Amino acid sequence: MPTKLDMAKFAKFCKDMGFVFQSSEIYGGINGFWDYGPLGVELKRNIKEAWWQDMVRNPPPGPDGQEIRMVGLDCSIIMNPNVWVASGHVGGFSDPMVDCLKCKKRFRADKVHFACAVVDSAPHAISVEADNATDAEPLLKEKIAKLDKKKHPVGRALKAAAQLEYHSATALPASWPRPCPAEDCDGTLTEPRAFNLMFESHAGPIASDENKVYLRPETAQGIFANYKNVLDSSRLKLPFGIAQVGKAFRNEINPRNFTFRSREFEQMEIEFFCHPNESRKWYEYWRDLRRQWYSRLGLKSENLVPREQGQEELAHYSVGTTDIEYMFPFSDEPQELEGVAHRGDFDLSAHSSRSGKDLKYFDEEGWNALLQARLEAFKDDKAKREEEKKKLEKEEKAQFQFVPHVIEPSAGADRFTLAVLCEAYTEDTAPDAKGNPETRIVMKFHPRLAPIKAAIFPLVNKDGMDEEAKKLYRELKPFFNVVYDQSGAIGRRYRRQDEAGTPFCITVDGDTMKDGTVTIRDRDTLKQERIPKSEVRKVLEKALSPV
Ligand code: GAP
Repeated sequence: MPTKLDMAKFAKFCKDMGFVFQSSEIYGGINGFWDYGPLGVELKRNIKEAWWQDMVRNPPPGPDGQEIRMVGLDCSIIMNPNVWVASGHVGGFSDPMVDCLKCKKRFRADKVHFACAVVDSAPHAISVEADNATDAEPLLKEKIAKLDKKKHPVGRALKAAAQLEYHSATALPASWPRPCPAEDCDGTLTEPRAFNLMFESHAGPIASDENKVYLRPETAQGIFANYKNVLDSSRLKLPFGIAQVGKAFRNEINPRNFTFRSREFEQMEIEFFCHPNESRKWYEYWRDLRRQWYSRLGLKSENLVPREQGQEELAHYSVGTTDIEYMFPFSDEPQELEGVAHRGDFDLSAHSSRSGKDLKYFDEEGWNALLQARLEAFKDDKAKREEEKKKLEKEEKAQFQFVPHVIEPSAGADRFTLAVLCEAYTEDTAPDAKGNPETRIVMKFHPRLAPIKAAIFPLVNKDGMDEEAKKLYRELKPFFNVVYDQSGAIGRRYRRQDEAGTPFCITVDGDTMKDGTVTIRDRDTLKQERIPKSEVRKVLEKALSPV
C-alpha cells in the first residue's frame, strides 16, 4: 500500500473495477450511502464469511486452552423502541451540532474551529472546518491571511491581534462571535445542540409518536435483548459468546472518506458473556485475538495500532475500550477499524431494569459443587442436611446468581473492506508479453478474501485448448468462485485478473493436450509452475484454507 493514496483516484478505480459504486448515482448519488459492485460484493461476503468461520464456527481456544462456546443470531433491524431507551441511545446517542442561521448548513461542533481575539474592545473570530485543532490552526492562519488581503475588517483585526486564541465550537466562550466556516457565507452559527444519530420511522400507517421506531444504530442491542432466549434455548454455560452480522444505520452528520463513515453500514459484533471475576482476562484475550485476525488476513502489522481509550473518551457503558486502529491512507493518523469494549454489566442490567425481566445468570454447577462439599458431613442425617441446605440457600446462593460481564469486539464489515482494498492496492512493474517492463495495478488480496480465486484461460482458442480450459473451469466452479476468459492476448488477460486481485491464473496450452499439465501463475511473485491439472483443486484449497 502506498503511504498516501489519492482517494479520488482510488474511488474511481474502485468504481471502474466494480468494487464500490456511489448509491443511486444516476440521480446524483446520496451522501453516506454506497453500493458494492460484482467484485465488491464477493470481497465483502468473503470478509463476513471469514469472520463467521474464524470467530463463530471455529474460534481459537480460550486463555485456558479450552474450546470457546460461540453461537450466532440474526435479529430484526427494527425493534421495540424500549430497547433504545434502555441502551441509552434515545437519551444520549447524539453529536453536538451547530447550524448556520444563514446558509442553513449543519456542522459537527467539534469539527468547527475558531481563531479569535479582542481588538479595540471588540471580539473578532473566523472559523474553518477541520478534524482536529492541529489541522485547524494552519487553515485558520491561511484564511486570516486571505481575508487581510481583501481588507476585511475581521481579518485586519485578527492580523493585528497580539495573540490569537483557538477554540472548537464545543469550547468557544458564549460571548465570542460564531461565524459560519462555509466558503462565501457570512452567517452566524447557533450554540451547539444535541442531534440524535438514529434514523426514525413509524411502524404502521400512522406517523404518530406512539408508532415511532428506530433503525438500529448497532447490532449489539439485538444480542442483549435476546440473551435470555439464547441462554434458555441452547443451555449454554458461561463463558460464551453470541455473534451477529448485520446492517446498522447512523445519521452521521459528516459522512466522509469514501465508505469509512457511512450512514448505512454493516457490523460484525460479538457479545462475550463471562463471570465478572474473569472479565479482564477475556478483555485481553479478545483485544489480542482481534488484532491478530486482521494481520492474518493481510493487513500489515505496522499499519495496525491498538489504542487503549483514555477515561474521557469512553462510551457511557464502557469500563475500558481498545480501538484497533488502521493507518488508512487518507489520514495522517490511524483510524478506528474495530472497538473491543469491556461493557461490564451495563447492558444486561439496563435491559433487566427496563423490561422487568430477571437477566441474572445462575451458576448451577458452582452452586451444586458447593452444596455437595458442604453437605457431605451431614450425609447420614437427613434433618440436619435439610437445615444446613436452607442456611446455605439463605446465605450463599446469591453469589452464584449474578449479571454477567460483557466483552464486545465490534468490527465494521465495510471499514475492514475499505482497509483491505487500500492495503491490497499496489502499483508495480511486471513484464509484458514481449518481456518489456510494464506498470500494472495489482490488488494483493489475501486468497481467502479475493473476489475471484482463479481465472482459467486457454492459451489460444484452437486445437481443443478452449474446450479443455472450459472443462477445467466447470470442474472448479462448484467449489470456488472462478472465471473463464478466452478473449484478448494472454498478457491482457493477466492484467485484468491482477486488477481484480485474482491470486491464480491457470493456462491450458499445447503441453496440456499432450501431458495433462497446466501452468499456474502466482499473482504476486509472477512465478509460473507446471502442475498436473488434477492438482489444481488441491492447490486452491491449500491457499484458501483458514488454518
Ligand atoms: N456496539 C458498539 C458499537 O457499535 P462503535 O465503535 O460505534 O461501537 C463499531 O462501532 C464499529 O462499527 C466501528 O469500529 C466501525 O468499524 C463500525 N462503524 C461505526 N460507525 C460507522 C460508520 N458510520 N460507517 C462505517 N462503519 C462504522
